[in-house]
Amino acid sequence: MSDIYDKVIELAKRRGFVWPSAEVYGAVAGFIDYGPLGAMMKRRIEAIWRHYYVIREGYYEIECPTVGTESIYVASGHVKGFADKMCQCPHCNEYFRADHLAEACGIHNAGILSKEDLAKAVAPARCPACDEVFGDVEVFDFNLMFQTTIGPGSQRRGYLRPETAQGMFTDFSRLSRFYRMKLPFGAVQIGKSYRNEISPRQGMIRLREFTQAEAEIFVNPSEKNHPNFSRYADYTVDLWGIEQEQKDLPAIKKTMRQAVDEGIIANEYIAYYLALTHELLVTIGIDPARMRFRQHLPDERAHYAIDCWDAEVLSDRFGWVETVGIADRTDYDLRAHSKESGDSMTVFVPFAEARKEKRLRIVADMGTLGPKYRGKAKKIADALAEAAPGPDGADVVVDGETYHIPGDLYTVSEEEVEVRGVEVRPHVIEPSYGIDRMIYGVLEHAYDEEMVEGEERRVMHFAPCVAPVQVAVFPLVNKDGLDSVAREIAIDLQDGGILADYDDNGAIGRRYRRQDEIGTPFAVTIDYETKEKGTVTLRDRDSMEQVRLPIADVHATLMSLVSGRTRFADLKQA
Ligand code: ATP
Ligand code: GLY
Repeated sequence: MSDIYDKVIELAKRRGFVWPSAEVYGAVAGFIDYGPLGAMMKRRIEAIWRHYYVIREGYYEIECPTVGTESIYVASGHVKGFADKMCQCPHCNEYFRADHLAEACGIHNAGILSKEDLAKAVAPARCPACDEVFGDVEVFDFNLMFQTTIGPGSQRRGYLRPETAQGMFTDFSRLSRFYRMKLPFGAVQIGKSYRNEISPRQGMIRLREFTQAEAEIFVNPSEKNHPNFSRYADYTVDLWGIEQEQKDLPAIKKTMRQAVDEGIIANEYIAYYLALTHELLVTIGIDPARMRFRQHLPDERAHYAIDCWDAEVLSDRFGWVETVGIADRTDYDLRAHSKESGDSMTVFVPFAEARKEKRLRIVADMGTLGPKYRGKAKKIADALAEAAPGPDGADVVVDGETYHIPGDLYTVSEEEVEVRGVEVRPHVIEPSYGIDRMIYGVLEHAYDEEMVEGEERRVMHFAPCVAPVQVAVFPLVNKDGLDSVAREIAIDLQDGGILADYDDNGAIGRRYRRQDEIGTPFAVTIDYETKEKGTVTLRDRDSMEQVRLPIADVHATLMSLVSGRTRFADLKQA
């Protein structure tokens, strides 16, 4: 059992970051509550995500229901295929994900094995619950969607969404009008998704209700160069590509330009979002030395995806954890929804200049077509206009029925038409982030303990931009008017939008330790010099160093420190 995981979780529960949901009734695995500090940190991380995707990339956020009708998930393929392979221990009846059991036996990427191969792999293993050898087990599919019915007494089936993505696909036509039919465009959602995970034994990593932040970026299939690629062309990340994974080699460092030019990453869009994801994860506090991008192997990749990479974060207990998935999903989703709904889900892309093209003009002879096909004649004539006639006539489909129309019932001529553009079904580039896994990574990578003056100091080294409490305000002692000055400063900071925690309880050293443990990056202390000179001390959590500042500068300095524009070391040098 890993020590750090237990310590992080103990701290997270005790100090109000995250705890099991509805513990008073015996918590159910896979559901968590964010406590006061965790919920605040989650909002801050979501705000940073929005900064990148909504403000900087310009992909507006939408908000769709978490319950969807059956047609959505029939079209998307989830009803048929969103399943994990499961088995049941014949001794204690506990359920397990068969690929996870096989991976625990040392099989790499067991998710791609067939049910039969998984059953063979699992047979000699011991059940994690009862420790008996599994022996003969059946491996079967278990659909992960939570099912419900819509309306009282209704037979109308619905599902809790297993990803936020489908809302962006079903809204495609309205979105394309919102963006004035101009590719590329994108939409994002941050919200809850639900998966009835088989055995969620990994705390915040595998939840049954979790928060996703997803962007669906609609691009012209023939233009997969990102318009702002230069922003990240020289950005370097650790890539664990197909070759490295297959040959068990370490990850390689490449710039995004090199990775695209050498064909490691399929296109500039994917490379751009890999780099952006790296920058975003480092900004919120993921250690870059414990992060890599793993490319999906060809037989692991969804059949419709051209390229897919996972941002993986290294956990002391769980190893490499997929935290973000970045995929080129081609036109699979829009094609599937178009087929199911009848909506074309295309965008008209005009040519730079209109083109002259030769076309066949097929005109029905209504004089003979009319009496022969009566009520259907008009529809047949319309269908003929779009048909591709052969030497002995044309086949057309009307109201689901195929009609063979002999050549003497229509005339074919060639005409020149002006073509202004083409209907295009966009491809989708999808970066999909699991907010809860990001938060767990931040908690684990921030955790530290050290000895200070003979005492253990537990400290969460949160980046100031995600720390739930941004500054602590302490009067050195609770008398001589120091407390009222401290309260005034705290109120002033709060009025100015900074989350300041006033604390006058106990020895000052204890107060610092309490704040270190929840990762508060700065502390302002009001002492006797404050009364004499109008200055306070500002203490940095990580270095534990202090500088003196005039009271009038405290708010602006903290704003600058919290946003990352200034570092504490800069204040020391000033
Ligand atoms: P895994 O293989 O770990 O089950 P996945 O491949 O099913 O993950 P995706 O379907 O690609 O994950 O989902 C996109 C993102 O959503 C993941 O990268 C992850 O961060 C998050 N996510 C998926 N399932 C869960 C879950 N059960 N609990 C928490 N986060 C999840
Ligand atoms: N939208 C990607 C996923 O959740 O699988």
